[in-house]
Formats: sequence, structure tokens, C-alpha cells
Amino acid sequence: MLTITLALSKGRIFDETLPLLDAAGIAPLEDPETSRKLILPTRRADVRLVVVRASDTPTYVQYGAADLGIAGKDVLYEHGGAGLYQPLDLGIAVCRMMVAVRADFDYASAVRQGARLRVATKYLRAAREHFAAKGVHVDLIKLYGSMELAPLAGLADAIVDLVATGNTLRDNNLRAVEEIMPISARLIVNQAALKLKRAALQPLIEAFEGARVAHA
Ligand code: ATP
Ligand code: PRP
Repeated sequence: MLTITLALSKGRIFDETLPLLDAAGIAPLEDPETSRKLILPTRRADVRLVVVRASDTPTYVQYGAADLGIAGKDVLYEHGGAGLYQPLDLGIAVCRMMVAVRADFDYASAVRQGARLRVATKYLRAAREHFAAKGVHVDLIKLYGSMELAPLAGLADAIVDLVATGNTLRDNNLRAVEEIMPISARLIVNQAALKLKRAALQPLIEAFEGARVAHA
């Protein structure tokens, strides 16, 4: 039997994908939040889930270790999308990638004066391209999480991070000053698998599409 492997990350992506998995008939038989297993069987014997870090999802799909996956546009942008077909915006895990600074930092005048800014982020590519397009000189500092701390601790003048409700910025006395791009999660498919396993993958893609419409 031809097996289909879907890569998913725990937490937000998994939580918001569960109704879509259910509608597509491939809900996992175990809860990844409580199970220590990294490969989970689903309601369909020929479909399994692999549980990966959010930022590793495109890599698993690019190399064909997973046939499909669900990843945020932020992660896909940093990955670059090589080897991936991106047929669907699932409209889940919706937020915005933004530039934010301390509430008392005059970002507009720093930019006007041509100041060189230190920017901390997990999203180096998006940040580099954003500031280059604006003609702002920046020194980028790579972080792996809790970007909000960087301006408070004096590590950076600004951050590039994701904002949804704005609560995290508010609670830390930061404010958003620019939007870089809207973010949502996409279905991604290995390009070679789509050709070799089309008969098995196409109905699944269509099920996600139908579930997404019903869900929206
Ligand atoms: P990693 O484990 O690889 O460091 P992570 O901890 O950022 O990743 P999650 O927090 O689960 O992973 O986020 C997964 C995806 O959900 C992100 O890539 C982004 O697309 C989206 N996302 C992140 N934060 C929010 C938010 N506050 N609201 C809505 N969607 C979000
Ligand atoms: C994300 C993001 C922000 C926060 C924004 O973090 O990195 O910190 O959500 O959401 P808000 O505008 O609704 O407050 P997350 O909760 O995923 O934590 P993590 O990055 O540490 O996993």
C-alpha cells in the first residue's frame, strides 16, 4: 500500500489544523500533545503524521521525507520554497509579520536621520529584504524566540516578529511601526511526490480545500 506522510508541528498549527484533518478523514489516533511518539497513525491506514518543529516542516517536505505538510508563510518565506508546491492558503494561524520598537523609541525620526538600526529577529530573510527595500541600514541579530525581550534588554533598537492580538507587544511596552507581510498557514506538497503519487494526493488536497471553505 502506498503510504502518504503529512508533516505537522505541535501547538498552534496542529490545534488549528485538527478540524481540517478531521474533515479530510485523517485525524490522528493519538494526541500529539500528550504522546511522545513522533510518527502517528491516523484514521486512514495509508496516511501517517510526522511531528516536527514548525521551522523544519518545509525541509521534511522539500526532501520528500513527508509528501505534504502545513507551514506558516513566515517559515516558508525563510525556507525559500525550493521543491515545494503550495496549492492552498488554509486561512489558519493568521497573524502579521511586523517591525516593533519600544514605545518610547522614535522610529520615524531614526529612519529619517538615516540611523543604522540594530534589528533582532528569527526572520532574517524577510527583515533583510524589508529594510533593503526601504533603504534603511540595519545590523541583523539572529534570535530563536522571545524577540520582544531584545529592545527591553538593550540588545536591539527594533524587532521583526509576528503579531496577532497585539497583547505581547502591549504587555512589554512595545509598539508595532510597520507591517512586513500578512501571515497564514499553507498546505505544502513535495513537487516530485505530486507527480508520482498524484492519484493519492489530489483527493487529499481537495479534501483540505473543501474543509477550508467550510471552516472559513
Ligand atoms: P519553532 O518551534 O520552530 O521555533 P514556533 O514556536 O514559532 O516554531 P508556533 O508558535 O507553533 O511555532 O507557530 C507556528 C506558526 O504559527 C508560525 O510559523 C506562524 O505562522 C503562526 N503563528 C505564530 N504566532 C502566531 C500567533 N500569535 N497567532 C497566529 N499565528 C501565529
Ligand atoms: C507568537 C509571536 C509573538 C506572539 C504574538 O509567539 O512570536 O510573541 O505570538 O501574538 P499576540 O500578538 O497575540 O500577542 P508564540 O505565542 O507562538 O510563542 P513562541 O514564539 O515563544 O512559540
